[in-house]
Amino acid sequence: MRRNSRRANAAVARFARRRDGGRATVRRVIQLRRVDALPPYAFAEIERLKLELRRSGEDVIDLGFGNPDVPPPDVAVEKLREASLLARNHRYSSSRGLPNLRAAICELYRDRYGVELDPDGEAIVTIGSKEGIAHLAIAILDQGDVVLAPTPTYPIHQYGCIIAGAQVQGVPLRQSGEEFYQELTEIVSRTWPRPKFLIMNFPHNPTTTTVDLRFMKRVVDFARENEIMVAHDFAYADLCFDGYKAPSFLQVPGAKEIGVEFFTLSKSYNMPGWRVGFAVGNREMIGALGRLKSYFDYGMFTPVQVAAIAALNGPQECVGEIVERYRRRRNVLVDGLNRAGWPIEKPRATMFVWAPVPEAFRAMGSLEFAKFLLAEAKVAVSPGIGFGADGDGYVRFALIENEHRTRQAIRGIRHALAHANLPKPRRAAGAS
Ligand SMILES: Cc1ncc(COP(=O)(O)O)c(C=O)c1O
Repeated sequence: MRRNSRRANAAVARFARRRDGGRATVRRVIQLRRVDALPPYAFAEIERLKLELRRSGEDVIDLGFGNPDVPPPDVAVEKLREASLLARNHRYSSSRGLPNLRAAICELYRDRYGVELDPDGEAIVTIGSKEGIAHLAIAILDQGDVVLAPTPTYPIHQYGCIIAGAQVQGVPLRQSGEEFYQELTEIVSRTWPRPKFLIMNFPHNPTTTTVDLRFMKRVVDFARENEIMVAHDFAYADLCFDGYKAPSFLQVPGAKEIGVEFFTLSKSYNMPGWRVGFAVGNREMIGALGRLKSYFDYGMFTPVQVAAIAALNGPQECVGEIVERYRRRRNVLVDGLNRAGWPIEKPRATMFVWAPVPEAFRAMGSLEFAKFLLAEAKVAVSPGIGFGADGDGYVRFALIENEHRTRQAIRGIRHALAHANLPKPRRAAGAS
């Protein structure tokens, strides 16, 4: 088997040499095993078409990328300015994060969730939670380990583990935590080698699925019984509506024995470009991540960390204002699309709306439908397929345009849906 693949590689190399006239190319010298395992980003095509339309003068309303559009809290911006005026703050920082920043995240967990954490051993600062998730996977996984990740899901949950050399077993996530839990237990019972790590994310991107504390408790008990490490990505911890409050994984007694939680300032404080995230929880997992990171980075720019402390310790009204803004946009979008004949439920959390592709367009698949909305309604959305094959019947709207622009998007979509030139359904043979 190995000899065959070596022969095949040599043949490819000979072919490449003939075609490029014998010049040395990277492709002839190495196999890009890790990079080749990553499929082309499905969102890239929509992004390219969106830019083309904008270059040709079209006003495209972008509800694709979940990139928060409103400014961060003033207190953070002011602190950043102040801290950057001090020369000592321009030196290398520490990769685990400033002690006061680690203390601030531990206080937040104590105040909001009643969870006690040791800022020295149970908390680490990450350069956004995406960086933390990807590096945690490298720190704790070996080649061939089996990992459980929801499908569909935010791509780094699966691809962070694939980059680390693990095999990912998808756990279907539809609309409820209950179903996810059933799938999880069933998959674990028939998977060999035994799964080593579970990554999950509630409130979930893209499906907007929410769970309660009872769900978290069942997952913690199950993971402890089956000796599975857990990482819970809590990116949408605060973006909850209509009285719903998302539980933290760490609220469950014993959760710290098997897992960590990622928290980020990107969404709760509208600071996505700042790249401030955290991992908190299990000491060994945090230690492994910290050790790996000490080789990779020198931590965030100190003034950014000082400003992040100000955001966490400052007045918290800004979080409620951000939530209210998303809630209003959610209502405008969902009510408007429902009136346009596209039935969609209101999500209880996140900054997204996960919409089933309307029946008449379903056969197209989500990528073609997203292209259709872009071309005909001038609205960019994310095709569900970009989050995994199980997302293909859906598109995701990000609530990142103001209410006026959201209404404009609805008008475009209503018109596009009403005037679509769909192929007529074929008549069944024999039918008159
Ligand atoms: C589920 C989820 N996790 C993590 C992130 C990235 O967060 P950060 O900005 O902290 O890297 C996102 C961003 O959209 C997300 O949706």
